[in-house]
Amino acid sequence: MKKKAIILGIESSCDETAVSLIQEDSGEKPKILSNVVSSQFDIHKEFGGVVPELAARAHVEKIDLIANKAIKDSKISLNQISAVAATSGPGLIVCLTIGLSFGKTIAYSLGIPFIGVNHLEGHALSPKLNSKLEYPYLLLLISGGHSQYLSVGGLGNYKRLGTTIDDALGEAFDKTAKLIGIGIPGGPGLEKFAKKGNPNKFDLPKPIINKGGCNLSFAGLKTAILRITKDIKSEQDKFDLAASFQKTIEEILYVKTIKAFDEYKKIHGEQKKKFVVAGGVAANESIRKKLIKVSKENNFEPIFPDPSLCGDNAAMIAMVGLEKYKIKKFDKFDLPATPRLSLDESAKFLKGPGVKL
Ligand SMILES: Nc1ncnc2c1ncn2[C@@H]1O[C@H](COP(=O)(O)OP(=O)(O)OP(=O)(O)O)[C@@H](O)[C@H]1O
Ligand SMILES: [Mg+2]
Repeated sequence: MKKKAIILGIESSCDETAVSLIQEDSGEKPKILSNVVSSQFDIHKEFGGVVPELAARAHVEKIDLIANKAIKDSKISLNQISAVAATSGPGLIVCLTIGLSFGKTIAYSLGIPFIGVNHLEGHALSPKLNSKLEYPYLLLLISGGHSQYLSVGGLGNYKRLGTTIDDALGEAFDKTAKLIGIGIPGGPGLEKFAKKGNPNKFDLPKPIINKGGCNLSFAGLKTAILRITKDIKSEQDKFDLAASFQKTIEEILYVKTIKAFDEYKKIHGEQKKKFVVAGGVAANESIRKKLIKVSKENNFEPIFPDPSLCGDNAAMIAMVGLEKYKIKKFDKFDLPATPRLSLDESAKFLKGPGVKL
């Protein structure tokens, strides 16, 4: 019987140090043997954002402990690991370098292949850890640094259909949370506030809602929120503003997703209409509900990663590693960390004032 591959995944692109082991399975999806994530919220909270030097120091301090725990939890021995996969970009270079060097060292010492992984491809393939998912599919990636609609044709095969022309959605959640006075992590905190508020209290703008195809824009919302927060008096006002913000985001995504469905159908026709939503913001329950609704109304099958696998983790990095391992797509030990890396390298840069849509 063919040996089932075991991949050790490592993630250190920003403020999460994560190590996971997954095993190829004869069933529909691999088995997660262990998945350890250490977040640095406490380290960065007083600065209101991630401080690269502090993040890098925390990765150095923690990575061997996290890796030891992941290996122990998985109940396998080192010589059973088939390959090591580590995030090579995008992200903070001082942070990427740590996970990458650590991964290369393990692979070299065990004499097994090393695989560099695009962090965004990790998000793109994350639902494969909990459901059978075949190519092609439409992907909405909504994370802290990215907001894009992509047609996913296969491993490493991405065509961008739309992107944010300013802030990423996770960033918009974080900035809004900060303005309202919610601590970090902003996204989950804002979702909790929204549950207690009236979503119809404040009327917020929906930038480029009727133009620019399925491109997105969220910066105008931040300006409107800033104006409103100046007049906010009660705790209930804060809940109402959070709820109104979240409802506005849902309405934007509803309209833009229909546009993305049309773009996707121009490429793939009426077959294989699957809609994957991934990245940290995909954990938001209310956004999930709205995107399930729009999918069903348009005959697309909605697919989400498990909520625990929406934010940064190493199981998704190991998932990409496993797919690359199966086709023997390995990297050399001199693979550099790449702070800027996209899924569709041919897509036009669409950011900044005066951008033409
Ligand atoms: N329940 C939630 N509702 C809204 N936003 C959320 C929720 N949970 C997490 N987020 C947001 O998701 C983002 C983190 O997601 P993720 O870890 O995928 O991003 P990242 O790794 O920082 O960015 P990228 O993957 O683009 O490089 C944060 O902006 C966070 O506020
Ligand atoms: Mg991420």
